[in-house]
Amino acid sequence: MTILIEQPDHQLAGSQMEEKKLCSETNETCELVLDGGFVVPKDISKNDGCVTQEIAASNDAFIAPEINSFGQSFRDYNAESERQKSVEEFYKSNHINQTLDFVKKMRQEYSKLNRVEMSIWECCELLNEVVDDSDPDLDEPQIEHLLQTAEAIRKDYPNEDWLHLTALIHDLGKVLLLPSFGELPQWAVVGDTHPLGCAFDEYIVHHKYFKENPDYNNASFNTKYGIYSEGCGLDNVMISWGHDDYMYLVAKENGTTLPQAGLFIIRYHSFYPLHRAGAYRHLMNKEDEENLKWLQVFNKYDLYSKSKVRVDVEKVKPYYLSLIEKYFPAKLRW
Ligand SMILES: [Fe+2]
Ligand SMILES: [Fe+2]
Repeated sequence: MTILIEQPDHQLAGSQMEEKKLCSETNETCELVLDGGFVVPKDISKNDGCVTQEIAASNDAFIAPEINSFGQSFRDYNAESERQKSVEEFYKSNHINQTLDFVKKMRQEYSKLNRVEMSIWECCELLNEVVDDSDPDLDEPQIEHLLQTAEAIRKDYPNEDWLHLTALIHDLGKVLLLPSFGELPQWAVVGDTHPLGCAFDEYIVHHKYFKENPDYNNASFNTKYGIYSEGCGLDNVMISWGHDDYMYLVAKENGTTLPQAGLFIIRYHSFYPLHRAGAYRHLMNKEDEENLKWLQVFNKYDLYSKSKVRVDVEKVKPYYLSLIEKYFPAKLRW
C-alpha cells in the first residue's frame, strides 16, 4: 500500500495538536473544533499550496510526518501562532469548569445510556456528518481520520485486529457535541484530559488557569495523592469528562469483548500528561503499566495519521464491519 501525504511547502510557526473543525450551519464564525477544542481563523485553515510527498511504500513501517497540513509541527504548544490565543481560551474554560463534582455528575448522567440506539458503524457515519469537510488538518470526512489511524496500525500490527477496531472507534465519543447527545460545550468533549481529586500536575497544558477552578484550593484535593492512594489504579481515578470516557462507558456497558488494552486506549488517549510526560504514574497499578505500552503505540498513529492519507472507505469497510461484529453487539445503547 502506498500512503500519500500532502504537506504545505511553507512553515508556519504554531501550536498544534490533534484537531477537528465543527461548522454548524447556524454558526457564522465557523469555529474549528480541535481535539483540543481551540478555534482557528478560517483563512489559515485552507490547505493551499500543498505538495504531495510519497513517504511510505509497501512493507515500510508507518512513518510519522513532522508537520501537519498547515506546515505546523504536531502539538507544539509553546510556538507562537494565530491559534495560540484560541487554544488558551479553550483550556481556560476547560480548566475552570472541569471539577470533581462536574465529572461525577457527567459520568452518572451518561452512564444511563438512554439517548440513542445504533450500531458502531452508524455512529461512525453520524460523526462523519458532524465534522464533514470542515477539518482543518485534512479535507476528508471524519470517517477517514478514523480509518487512516486504523489502517496505519493495521499495516504495522496486522495480527492485532482488536487494535484496528480500537483505532476506528476511539473518537466516536465526539458525538457528545450533537444535540441528541446533549450538545456539550467543547471544553466538556475534546482536549487533553487530566485527573480530578488530586493536585493538577504542572505538565498539564495552560496549568495557570486551574487557579480559578474551585477544586484548586480544596485541601482534600490539592496534594499529590488527594483522595487517592499510591498504585490505586486509574480505574479508580476520576478523569476530566470528554469523548474518551464517554466512549469507554458505551463500549463497556454494551458488553464489548475488546481486550482491556483496547478499553484503556479509548479511555485515556487524550490523557497526554500521563502518556507523554509520565505524570500521575504513581496512581497506576501493574495492569495500567501494561496497557500504557499499547496506548503509546496507538498514540503515534492517532496523532500523525491526520495528514493527507487517503483511504478508500468502501474498500476497507467489510473488514471493519467484521471486526465490529466480532467485538460488539449489533446495536448499542448510547
Ligand atoms: Fe480523541
Ligand atoms: Fe483521534
